[in-house]
Amino acid sequence: MTDTPAGTGATLRVVVGVTGGIAAYKAVGVVRALVLAGHDVHVVPTAGALRFVGRPTFEAISRNPVETDLYEGVAEVRHVALGQSADLIIVAPATANSIAKLAAGLADDLLGTTILASTAPVVIAPAMHTEMWQNPSTVANIATLAARGITVVGPEVGQLTGTDAGAGRMSEPDAIVAAALAAASTANTADLAGRRVLVSAGGTREPIDPVRFLGNRSSGLQGVAIAAAAAARGADVTLVAAHLEVPEPQGVRVLHAATALDLQRVMTAEAPAHDVIVMAAAVADYRPASVDESKIKKDATGHTLTLELVQNPDVLAGLSLDRPAGQVVVGFAAETERDDSALLELGRAKIARKGCDYLVVNRVGWSEGFTVADNDVRVLDAAGAIVVEAVGTKTAVAHRILDLLV
Ligand code: CTP
Repeated sequence: MTDTPAGTGATLRVVVGVTGGIAAYKAVGVVRALVLAGHDVHVVPTAGALRFVGRPTFEAISRNPVETDLYEGVAEVRHVALGQSADLIIVAPATANSIAKLAAGLADDLLGTTILASTAPVVIAPAMHTEMWQNPSTVANIATLAARGITVVGPEVGQLTGTDAGAGRMSEPDAIVAAALAAASTANTADLAGRRVLVSAGGTREPIDPVRFLGNRSSGLQGVAIAAAAAARGADVTLVAAHLEVPEPQGVRVLHAATALDLQRVMTAEAPAHDVIVMAAAVADYRPASVDESKIKKDATGHTLTLELVQNPDVLAGLSLDRPAGQVVVGFAAETERDDSALLELGRAKIARKGCDYLVVNRVGWSEGFTVADNDVRVLDAAGAIVVEAVGTKTAVAHRILDLLV
């Protein structure tokens, strides 16, 4: 997962719209390349596309169910949900007809509604006969789309479907994917240029003896997504990594911290040089009171073993208390509470206790929160009001949090 935006290793939710042209078979290559790069790909074929390539092919290659009908999944408001949660939309091939519909803002099928409901960057790969490509209607439609910031990849000059050759051949899947990922990485303006952002991510490990530790299930994915997204938006980013289970982002200065005390030391030293601090790391609240220098042996301890633990310092509360004027401090709260209003109350109590400016509240559980690509968060301000509600990939959630800071 290196050829993702800004080489970040972040997972994007990508919608691949496939419209009804012979080149639909090449869309399979686009989907495959995205899946192999680690992205979460949802194919939305039009009825015309399905006459060229069957739904089972798209389902198998994308590893996701393929929705085709505007009137399926109405209860989940499917026709807008996919667009709202997308980080990137690719239409390949884009026929002359689909380009005209896009230019006019038509929404008479699932692809049309998905695109209209989305604020994600859109990349299209036209494919048609030369005459259609050069027709003034198509030329005007392409100009309209380009003016709206839609990226047009190709078409290439080459052999077309029949015996003819000329401009109109769809670009190769790898070229489309490369252009689309580049568009996704520059989609956000450099609105954090000149800002220094310090992010902690991962989970601390508190040693018990040379081979054992007390740890937690944080993978670091959400913190890494925030660091990567801030860097993509022009910030100078320092990431303090505590045992990440995901690749370190590129374009970011990375420091390492193993234990809560290490993390406190590194964060406290770095904090004064930063404008924004995001404490996404899961910090152990307790550590063993003493660390054995050699492996604890069963024979020496018997049937039960009692570990004495002492409380770790609260890093976030300390940073909030000592922050220089103008510095913004963001904390996270991982809670297992099932009831929504009780969850928010825990969040409100926590932000009051920690003294930070914002608190990102998310629910965790045996199968929620950790290592999964998606997140569902509410951000509280210091007064306890909900200022952001965000659902989607951890990259999308990262951008929503950064939007707030901007
Ligand atoms: N945090 C911290 N230092 C600690 C514990 C937590 O800086 N010793 C930070 C986390 O990085 C996070 C926030 O505090 O930003 C909330 O962490 P969380 O584990 O949800 O809360 P706790 O303080 O551990 O409170 P509780 O155990 O009561 O949920």
